[in-house]
Parts: sequence; structure tokens; C-alpha cells
Amino acid sequence: MANLFDLTGKKAIVTGAAQGLSNGMAEGLMEAGAEVTIFDMSPKTEEVAAEFCRKGFKCHGIRVNLSDTAEREAAFQKAVELMGGLNILVNGAGVQRRHKCEEFPMEDWNFVLDVNLTSVFAMCQLAGRHFLANGGGKIVNIASMLSFFGGFTVPAYAASKGGVSQLTKAFANEWACKNITINALAPGYMATDMNTKLLEDEGRNAEISARIPAHRWGLPADMKGPVVFLASPASDYLNGAIIPVDGGYLNR
Ligand SMILES: NC(=O)c1ccc[n+]([C@@H]2O[C@H](COP(=O)([O-])OP(=O)(O)OC[C@H]3O[C@@H](n4cnc5c(N)ncnc54)[C@H](O)[C@@H]3O)[C@@H](O)[C@H]2O)c1
Repeated sequence: MANLFDLTGKKAIVTGAAQGLSNGMAEGLMEAGAEVTIFDMSPKTEEVAAEFCRKGFKCHGIRVNLSDTAEREAAFQKAVELMGGLNILVNGAGVQRRHKCEEFPMEDWNFVLDVNLTSVFAMCQLAGRHFLANGGGKIVNIASMLSFFGGFTVPAYAASKGGVSQLTKAFANEWACKNITINALAPGYMATDMNTKLLEDEGRNAEISARIPAHRWGLPADMKGPVVFLASPASDYLNGAIIPVDGGYLNR
């Protein structure tokens, strides 16, 4: 059974892994044996990769704004060259903007949709073309509870994550027969920088915590097992699945 989850020799791109959930997922993939290239626009990207190398992992960092088509495509080519191939793509980079629906600025709508949805579509396409030409591969998108719910004050985020869930299914339908699996993880409420405002809002924090059957917010390490599963042969017959990683939140 252990071999089913072995990623030795596999090459992965993980977007957004300078911090937060993607950082945990990148670490999980490396612990399972993969070589990882981190795509992130954060100034700490290279240092985060260097720190993983000091721990004995094979890791590269490429600073890239995923909303920029030319930067994104150049980074993709560079990563494939650096690692000598690609087997796994994890689309974890994401952003959040909060305003009441009637006040939501178009600028913020476009910003959120560009990062959370358009760049995910484009990265799936880039990786998919590579996988189609090279015998297959694995894509893991990061959806959200807001792929299922509408939320409050986050219409752009909810629309983008609903879109991530739908495009995951659309790609899966065309690529399942080509040895490419594409699935999504839908994290629940996770204690990361993205949720600083929610964590600090005592009322909302208590409301959310009371609904989580596991009685705690999730952590980046909670994403390791699920991402290794979706990146490994253990999930070869999963296509277009949206898997909650939420301490049971969705069941309530
Ligand atoms: N935290 C949660 O509760 C939660 C819940 C559900 C889904 N998610 C999703 O999980 C993913 C990771 O979230 P997180 O909580 O770790 O967030 P985070 O803010 O801690 O990390 C996001 C990372 O993405 C990078 N990034 C943002 N825009 C980018 C761009 N244009 N180009 C390159 N890099 C960019 C940031 O620099 C950052 O390192 C996101 O897709 C998010 O929507 C988070």
C-alpha cells in the first residue's frame, strides 16, 4: 500500500507556496519524495525554497505574478526545464477581497477573478498540454467551502471558487481517458493569513468554530495527506472530484 502514495522522482509545481496552505502542501509532496518548484509573487519565495533545500528536499522558487500571461508562461517553461519534466500541478495561489455586494468595486472583482480563476484555468491548460504530450499527469486545484456556499461580503471569491470547481469537472471529462487526473480540494476554515480578519472578528470566529465538528480551524499540515493522495497513483480512478478538507463543516 505504501507505494501507492510514493512520489519519488515526481516533479511538481505548487503555486502560492511561499506561505499558508500551499506551503503545507508543497512540504507534504516533498516528504512523499517529489521535487517541487514553488510559484509565488511573494519576495520571500526564493528564501522559502532555500529553506526547504536546507532541510534536504529538492525545491526551487520562481517569483511570478500568476495574473500576468507572459510571466506565467515563462515561469512554467523555466520550471519544466529546471526539473527536467513535470508530473504534478497544484494550483493553490489565491486572494480574497471583502466588501458588501452593492459596494464591491469592479477593480477588486477583476483582481480576484484573474488570480483565483483565470490563472488556474491557464495553468491547467499549460500543464495539460505538457501531460498530453508526455503520457499523463496529476492536477490538484484548490476550491473552497465557497464552491458550495455564497458566503457574506465575498461575491468575487465565491464566484471564482465556484468556477474552480466547475472547470475541474470540465477538464476531467476531457482528460480522464488520457491518463490525466484533475481533482480539487475544498478547504474549510483554515488558520492562515487569508483569514486574519475572520479570526480577529470574535463574533464570526465563534459562529464558525461552533459549526466545525472537529472543533478547530484547519492548519496547512491538514492539507498534506489529501494533496499527496490526489497527486499519487492512489487516486488514479478519481476524476473531477471536489473533496472537502473541513473538519466536517460541510456536513452540518
Ligand atoms: N485559508 C482558508 O481558510 C482557505 C479556505 C478555502 C480555500 N482556501 C484557498 O487555499 C489557497 C491558499 O490559501 P491560504 O489561506 O494559504 O492563503 P495565503 O494568503 O496564506 O497564501 C496565498 C499565497 O498565494 C500567493 N499569491 C497570491 N496572488 C498571487 C499571484 N497573483 N501570483 C503568485 N502568487 C500569488 C501569495 O503571495 C501567498 O503566498 C487559496 O487558493 C485559497 O483561496 C483557503
